[in-house]
Amino acid sequence: MNVLVIHGSMRKNGNTKILSKEFVRGAKEAGHKAEIVELRDKKFGDCLGCRACFNNGGKCVQKDDMAEILDKLRGADVIVLSSPMYYFTWTG
Ligand SMILES: Cc1cc2nc3c(=O)[nH]c(=O)nc-3n(C[C@H](O)[C@H](O)[C@H](O)COP(=O)(O)O)c2cc1C
Repeated sequence: MNVLVIHGSMRKNGNTKILSKEFVRGAKEAGHKAEIVELRDKKFGDCLGCRACFNNGGKCVQKDDMAEILDKLRGADVIVLSSPMYYFTWTG
């Protein structure tokens, strides 16, 4: 299986990263493909609400790193959302 870990901590080598890396290690040891996407290194905008994607097969008009992330999400069998809890919720 293809495992994608979306890492949402702004601390590059914090506690969440340790857990993400351990998850990837375990998945690989079990024979799966696994990778971490580091959100802090990506640039993407909020949804503009322009609705262009309603009529073009779901493609966002914004030229940012989201296209690459969406491709990875589509190719994943397992998606892991890895975030620390900041102020009683996951990170923005
Ligand atoms: C700004 C901030 C807010 C936090 N808010 C919470 C919280 O609401 N509840 C909680 O249990 N821990 C909270 N914590 C603790 C973090 O979730 C915890 O230290 C976590 O392991 C940090 O992960 P990181 O090393 O990947 O940043 C907070 C930490 C910070 C820095």
